[in-house]
Amino acid sequence: MRIGLRYTESMSSQSRDGPASTERLLFEPLSAEHAPLLFHALDDDRIYRYVPTPHAVSIGELKDYFGKLVQGPGEDQSQIWLNWALRLSASGVYIGTLQATVLADREAWIGYMISSAFWGQGYASEAVAWLIEELVRRAGVSSVRASVDLRNRRSSRLLRRMGFLKESTESSELHGQTTMDGHYRLAVAPKARGSTE
Ligand SMILES: CC(C)(COP(=O)(O)OP(=O)(O)OC[C@H]1O[C@@H](n2cnc3c(N)ncnc32)[C@H](O)[C@@H]1OP(=O)(O)O)[C@@H](O)C(=O)NCCC(=O)NCCS
Repeated sequence: MRIGLRYTESMSSQSRDGPASTERLLFEPLSAEHAPLLFHALDDDRIYRYVPTPHAVSIGELKDYFGKLVQGPGEDQSQIWLNWALRLSASGVYIGTLQATVLADREAWIGYMISSAFWGQGYASEAVAWLIEELVRRAGVSSVRASVDLRNRRSSRLLRRMGFLKESTESSELHGQTTMDGHYRLAVAPKARGSTE
């Protein structure tokens, strides 16, 4: 089903853009070739405690997983998957990933993971702030959503700090256990088309 999802070419999963940047971070459109570069950062049990993302135990497994992400949703043209590798601009070290699924109703769901060696330094906040701006600018997104296991205090604090509001709490399942997820939403106002500001 095609629901009229509007996006610029550079918004596609296989973005032709070069890396974007903020003060301390580089955002590289994810490719399977990032697997050896990100394997060390993502081979970290603490990252997967509250998320369903599979913990790849080899570079080959991570490459397959990244390959699927980059491929996107296939026939389903009602959504776009966007993925980036996060890198420190000062040292060039890869520290994590950033994801967004853009839906036809101008809503986007986001996800983020940072190697625990780099937690608590504001990198996720910097990355998510960039991502929200990017989604508004490129896809005219008007609402950004994230689903967070209620036990994931770091992520909940991050979202609240960025202005997200918890709209509901729903039962979920993670690693074979029944869990509770908080559904967060941030309303954003996309600029009018043609605005140069
Ligand atoms: C959730 C997660 C992304 C947070 O990453 P992070 O880089 O530690 O997040 P930040 O550094 O931006 O914020 C963490 C703390 O650092 C503080 N901080 C330190 N320096 C900062 C700076 N320069 N700018 C902003 N915040 C800063 C923040 O105030 C925040 O404090 P708080 O937790 O007491 O509110 C990370 O824990 C993670 O990857 N977890 C595993 C995957 C996951 O759960 N993803 C979310 C799924 S919903």
